[in-house]
Amino acid sequence: MKFFNTAGPCRPEYHYMLPAAARLREENVMRLIETQSYFVVHAPRQTGKTTAMLGLAQELTASGKYTAAMLTLELGAGLPDDLGGAERAILADWRQSIAHDLPPELHPPPWPKSEEGQQISAALNAWALHSQRALVVLLDEIDALQNHVLISVLRQLRAGYPRRPRSFPAALALIGLRDVRDYKVKSGGSPHQGTTSPFNIAVRSITLRNFTEGEVAALLQQHTAETGQPFTPEALAHVWHLTRGQPWLVNALAKVAVEELVNALQQPVDVPDIDAAKELLILRRQTHLDQLTDKLREPRVRHVIEPLLAGASLNNIPLDDLEYVTDLGLITREYGGVRIANPIYQEVIPRTLTIIPEASLPTIHPTWLTADNQLDPDRLLAAFLDFWRQHGQPLLKSAPYHEIAPHLVLMAFLHRVMNGNGTIEREYAIGSRRMDLLVRYGPVRLALELKVWRDGVKDPAVEGLGQLDSYLDGLGLPTGWLVIFDQRSGLPEIAERVTTEQATTPAGRVVTVIRA
Ligand SMILES: Nc1ncnc2c1ncn2[C@@H]1O[C@H](COP(=O)(O)OP(=O)(O)OP(=O)(O)O)[C@@H](O)[C@H]1O
Ligand SMILES: [Mg+2]
Repeated sequence: MKFFNTAGPCRPEYHYMLPAAARLREENVMRLIETQSYFVVHAPRQTGKTTAMLGLAQELTASGKYTAAMLTLELGAGLPDDLGGAERAILADWRQSIAHDLPPELHPPPWPKSEEGQQISAALNAWALHSQRALVVLLDEIDALQNHVLISVLRQLRAGYPRRPRSFPAALALIGLRDVRDYKVKSGGSPHQGTTSPFNIAVRSITLRNFTEGEVAALLQQHTAETGQPFTPEALAHVWHLTRGQPWLVNALAKVAVEELVNALQQPVDVPDIDAAKELLILRRQTHLDQLTDKLREPRVRHVIEPLLAGASLNNIPLDDLEYVTDLGLITREYGGVRIANPIYQEVIPRTLTIIPEASLPTIHPTWLTADNQLDPDRLLAAFLDFWRQHGQPLLKSAPYHEIAPHLVLMAFLHRVMNGNGTIEREYAIGSRRMDLLVRYGPVRLALELKVWRDGVKDPAVEGLGQLDSYLDGLGLPTGWLVIFDQRSGLPEIAERVTTEQATTPAGRVVTVIRA
């Protein structure tokens, strides 16, 4: 889509790129090719794997020394129980993509006829024998394959490996989300028993990192160079802050900001534009975000995300689950700590988890607004207590993550209160057993700390008051709410046990304690 601007020339579509194959050079990928290696390239969704490997294939072919093809295994996903059919679908797709990407003299001969379970290796064998140049095959979307189709493809590659480079590809890469270690698990072996992966020929696994802060700025400045429209330094820093360099997010924020929000090229893109772009991206639930949040339903993902949101300790989480959720890109484990990968995911995750409780909310009248439409915290408290007494109990069952069900219902309620006119910022502190929320509505800022009281531990109020102090200190606020969800067994119904009182924190602040 092109945008026309009465004040200036035709605005080019946002299309900027950082040199793609250069991102792999850091990992010394050329050396892997030259040494005839089979290797794995893994990185989370939408990191630029396909873009980088396509660039690599083009460079290798253009060098005149290699025939390099970027091919995908994606078509095998549709036929998880039909090996022969999966192989044929994959090979038919390869033909088309080779015809598109490579000049005729580098094409393979017709794929030979062969048995089920040998069709892929027979095809690669025929192509390598036929090719005048060393053959390099980059196989994308390895994660699309499952069960015995996955095992068979890996076995076929391993079987051909000793015959390289004359009658099998000289170098080969498997590209996907997971490192090889997981192919062991998926293909039936247990990682704990030291079973070898069917792809144990891989000499290395390399990964693609996110963009650095400097790369984010360089990418967005390409737009400035072409159109003259600047990003303020604060806006550049904000894109970095919100995305932590996640490539899809960086592009998506910039594209929405320049194409939809700040149309006049004379006008710089500033922080509020980036924030508005972020809101649009989250509301639109575009594929990338949708793919990620879909994963929240998987038990392995819940095992990690649920305690992370609750501020619980991660000590008891199986390492495999942590690795899986890291590979998906939802969390990072930089500098030893575990956290949600970037502030945008940090916002998208709880919003996704509150979709069902939110849809189940009754109509609530906005009794918390003053005559001039400002948020009145006292009235909000009364409305919340009312809501919780009447609807809390059944709504808790609608929340997808049991351990943090009360948090999710409270957040769903707050989303309804915001109704698009305010924001909720969340902070998670691992091991502190709390979740902090900051509600912003016009000039009003309301800080809430959420804690859970479970069987066998003492009343968390004392610890909570101290923690609320430090949260309020950081925000420069005089007061806030401490919400204690009492989840001990054998309690009366919510309607009978909800109470609220004023309490004094260790630093002498008078705050509201809600027991719900
Ligand atoms: N070199 C680059 N410069 C700028 N943006 C890039 C670059 N590479 C990737 N991106 C951004 O990242 C997005 C995803 O790229 P790509 O499809 O290559 O990633 P992927 O890791 O293969 O994703 P998936 O896991 O879904 O297959 C692109 O749409 C683009 O927005
Ligand atoms: Mg890809």
